[in-house]
Formats: sequence, structure tokens, C-alpha cells
Amino acid sequence: MKAATRTTYGSPDVITVKEVEKPVPKANEILVRVHATTVNRTDCGALWGKPFLFRFFIGLFKPRNSITGTDFAGVVETVGEKVNEFKIGDRVWGFDDNTLPSHAEYLAVDSKKAIMKVPTGFTFEQAVASAEAAHYACNFLNKVKLVPGQKVLVNGGTGGIGSAAIQFLKNMNIFVTAVCHSQYHDRVQALGPDRIIHYDKEDFTQDNETYDFVFDAVGKSSFNPCTRILKEKGVYLSSELGPGAENLYLPLLTLIKGGRKVIFPVPGSISKSLAYIFDLAEKEKFKPLIDRTYSLDEIKEAFTYVNSGQKIGNVIIRITD
Ligand SMILES: NC(=O)c1ccc[n+]([C@@H]2O[C@H](COP(=O)([O-])OP(=O)(O)OC[C@H]3O[C@@H](n4cnc5c(N)ncnc54)[C@H](OP(=O)(O)O)[C@@H]3O)[C@@H](O)[C@H]2O)c1
Repeated sequence: MKAATRTTYGSPDVITVKEVEKPVPKANEILVRVHATTVNRTDCGALWGKPFLFRFFIGLFKPRNSITGTDFAGVVETVGEKVNEFKIGDRVWGFDDNTLPSHAEYLAVDSKKAIMKVPTGFTFEQAVASAEAAHYACNFLNKVKLVPGQKVLVNGGTGGIGSAAIQFLKNMNIFVTAVCHSQYHDRVQALGPDRIIHYDKEDFTQDNETYDFVFDAVGKSSFNPCTRILKEKGVYLSSELGPGAENLYLPLLTLIKGGRKVIFPVPGSISKSLAYIFDLAEKEKFKPLIDRTYSLDEIKEAFTYVNSGQKIGNVIIRITD
């Protein structure tokens, strides 16, 4: 089968797309014919081996999985004798933030991992685009107590995480202000926010509105400038560690001090996130934002594009026609 492989950490130049042996599933595994996968920000971290801490989970000196990838959508081709959850022919999608060899035509994966049936009416592309970033968006939401009518500002409304967060929040009847570049106004408006601020025309931290929460889904701002627009008991959450990794220690400092707080949304259960996303997708209340689609042969270009920080939503690798 064809797969994107590498033997060392580094830039997309370390990737070779080549023929490798088709995996044989173990008793607890399913063999999936992969139809679509993505290149996401977690894939970029796993390719470069950055931050270094990540290597303790994915291989200290070299990547444990020589085939790149973290997510997949496809059809179950074979099931191991101990598998009860899935049967041959099931359309499935899944994600593992500690990498999966899924940038390939076939994937053998433990059936107990975070894997779900593809939501009704979803294409493989839509399913796989509902995994990594939407999971991280869930991890913003499940760290706070959200009440209908509250006000949330989402910085990075065009991002994979931000575009999912906007839809999840609107489903909870939250008043959402999204921040994005003016060129993407229509794409973000289609996600349903109540208000949009264009960061190329206006600094959102100077807004006259005050918010219960600021979700910095792109990590381009920080707690200090956002205190101005946070209510007295408002909370700032960011997908990045912030300047000097302050988002690691500010949660404790702001808790002791009282008033406005910082929470760093450490990711939780992927299975719970996928179940939440599946439920919304089935109710037609969530559609992932999709940017470009590449072939497996073009995967180096896909990594370069995603790593530029310019992607809109999710970047797909289509494995089959
Ligand atoms: N903590 C975690 O576990 C975790 C996991 C995954 C990802 N992350 C991090 O979370 C961040 C977002 O991930 P993602 O997958 O959503 O990234 P992404 O899809 O690449 O999002 C970046 C988006 O932000 C927009 N943007 C750039 N500068 C901006 C600004 N100043 N204000 C508002 N929007 C801006 C970009 O569009 P334009 O530049 O065209 O406006 C782009 O659409 C990344 O920094 C990633 O490293 C964290």
C-alpha cells in the first residue's frame, strides 16, 4: 500500500511517499481502508517533534510511528476475532493525539480507541474534518460552566478550533463574537456568530463589550490585554502556552488573586469529544469548515501550508477517489 513515511523528526522534507507493507490487524484491531485523513496542527507537532515534551508520548529519539497521521475516515475491511464494536463495511472515523499511522491507504487500529461510525449524511472528508480541531474546541467548552445568554469572544474564528467552537457555543445559545480577517467574513458568518470583529481593522481588546469568556482559539493574544474586555469574574482560555508559557502558571496565580481568571484547556477524553461531535452532526447542528484538499502524493505541500498558520478550518488528504 502507499503511505507517507519518515524515520526522523524534521520539516516536510523528511517525508517520503512510498509503497510499504499492508498492515495485518491483530485480534483486537480493525483494518480500515482509509478514504480521507487530514493534516492538522497536531500532525505538524508530531512531524517536527515539537514541543520537545511531545516526544515523550510519540517517541523520544525518533518517531514511534514511521507513517505520519493522527486521524482517519474510511471503511472497515477486516475485524480481528476479539472485536465486537465494529463489523466489515462500517463507515468509521477516529483520532489519536499521540499519532496513528493513518496517512496511508490502510490502517490497523485498536477497536477500543476513539473511533465512531461516520455521522449520517457526512462524507468521509466531513467526518475526518470533525476530529482533531473539534476535539480541542470541546476541551475549551468542558473546562467552564456555560449558561445560555452568556457572552463569549472567540479569537481565531477561521481556525480549525475556532470554527468548531463558534458552532458548539451557538448550539448552547451563547452570544458569540468571532474575530477573523475581513477577507473571511462570509465564511465565518456562515458558522452563525452574533457579531464579527475584523482583526485587520479593529483591535478586539479595545471593544466596548465585556465578555464572560474569551476563547483564544488561535493563541495570538494573551491574558493581560484581554482583562479589559473580561467581566469581573470573566475567564481567559488559550490554545497556546502564551508568552513565557504564562498560561501554565497564570491559572494558579489568578485563582489565588481572585477576579478574572485564566484556564489552560488541557485536552481530556477524545472518545467523549467524538461522541459529542457525532451527536451534533446527527442533529445537523455541526458542519466542519473545510479549506483545501490534497492527494497523498501532495502531502508535503499540505504540511507546509498547515504549518504556515494560514489554513481555514481543516485541510484534507483524500486517499481514494
Ligand atoms: N493546546 C493544544 O492542545 C493544541 C492542540 C492543537 C492546536 N493547538 C494550537 O491551537 C492553535 C489553533 O489551532 P488550529 O488548528 O485551529 O489552527 P489553524 O486552523 O491553523 O488556525 C489559524 C487561524 O487563525 C487565523 N489567524 C491568524 N492570526 C490571527 C489573529 N491575529 N487573529 C485572529 N485570527 C488569526 C488564521 O487565519 P488568517 O491568518 O488568514 O486570519 C487561521 O485561519 C494553533 O496555534 C495550534 O498550535 C493547540
